[in-house]
Amino acid sequence: MSISKVASTKVTLENSVEQRLQVQHLVAANRVVVPNTGNDVIKGLTQTPKTIPACYFYDDQGSELFEQICELPEYYLTRTETAILQEYAGEIAQITGACELVELGSGSSTKTRILLDAYQELDYPLRYLPIDVSAGILESSARQLLADYPSLQVHALAGTYELALAQLVPTQLPNRMIAFIGSTLGNLQPQECDLFLSQITNALQVGEYFLLGIDLQKPKNILEPAYNDRQGVTAAFNLNMLAHLNQRFEGNFDTAQFEHWAFYNETANQIEMHLRSLRSQTVELKALNVTVNFSPGETILTEISRKFDLETIQQQLTAQGLTPLHVWTDPQQWVGLLLCQLQN
Ligand code: AVI
Repeated sequence: MSISKVASTKVTLENSVEQRLQVQHLVAANRVVVPNTGNDVIKGLTQTPKTIPACYFYDDQGSELFEQICELPEYYLTRTETAILQEYAGEIAQITGACELVELGSGSSTKTRILLDAYQELDYPLRYLPIDVSAGILESSARQLLADYPSLQVHALAGTYELALAQLVPTQLPNRMIAFIGSTLGNLQPQECDLFLSQITNALQVGEYFLLGIDLQKPKNILEPAYNDRQGVTAAFNLNMLAHLNQRFEGNFDTAQFEHWAFYNETANQIEMHLRSLRSQTVELKALNVTVNFSPGETILTEISRKFDLETIQQQLTAQGLTPLHVWTDPQQWVGLLLCQLQN
């Protein structure tokens, strides 16, 4: 092949990726874009007990640490859910038929490939709508997918779940499935969870699907090590939140003066992650004009990770009109994957 022939083939390929990719930055319908002013941080750090919203885990370093958590030997969740998807993706594709795949919190879209492979295997058209707050990750993983799946169309939506769900337009394919895997549902408080499920219901047409991955209740001796790994990656992930606040709001948190503390609350069926102050100290976040005092041992709640009971979550989904059609789990019943359909 001549040099000019190689060059023209490359241009054709690149053009075809551009033609198959659309990236949409979502704004509120009233066009008022509210910047993150840090009011949520002020509110959380001035209340008792102190909290910081879990969204502050995910700066570049935090996202990288989370990817590392997913590979940890103690963190069974990602591995187990991936195995369930690998085993049942073909069945999911058979049930839904040709279907547009919408994914909430798509991140690097690793597990998405298992579903895309299953639809591709059945010769269905591939249309994928990843939704993530990080436009950078969205676009880079979309480009990677487009390079690997020549018939794939991607319409990436950069914004919050709430905005994206409220603005989904009817699909061009015979059906649609919204996927929310990785048990991120467990990071929502119960009231937030109800609100979120009602947003899913409102975003779907009758007959469309919702694929939900959840972490199930299991003994403490499995759960606690998953959030207290021996390499200290989860501790670094938790402490990184303070570094993120320093950088974002001109803060002076000394991360060496806090420690990671995670345990399973058996009454609430949730892992609770905290940062504990090692001494009496005062921290300032200049950009927020706020000064926070800590007593020795005082804690900041950074995350809850709820662990679900299959019966209860199915009742909750049904109450929202999302009828579970199929429930798949692993042999140990550690993780659940539920395929639900919106009913009349
Ligand atoms: C994203 N989410 C489902 C993870 C979890 O297990 O709740 C976040 C995480 N926090 C510490 N390790 C992992």
